[in-house]
Amino acid sequence: MPRFEVSENLSKKINDLSRARQSLIEEMEAIMFYDERADATENEELRSVMVHNRDDEKEHFSLLLEFLRRNDPELDKELREILFSKKKMQELGD
Ligand SMILES: [Fe+2]
Repeated sequence: MPRFEVSENLSKKINDLSRARQSLIEEMEAIMFYDERADATENEELRSVMVHNRDDEKEHFSLLLEFLRRNDPELDKELREILFSKKKMQELGD
């Protein structure tokens, strides 16, 4: 896991948040890889496996996001303001 600070100097809370954030990145990468491979293959059977695996990664991503939301109050605030909003994208954010 990439580090900007020595892990021993960080609190248990920040170390756990870093673990979850890095895992979130890895789950999103896995979604991207499976999506590209599903799109590229001409083998329908392999495509169905790739699509299934890609969608499993979306569940993993969502679980990590929920962990982060529960443990990062500012992220919780932002997600409540933005996710599932009926506003146009241009109207969201600062
Ligand atoms: Fe995963």
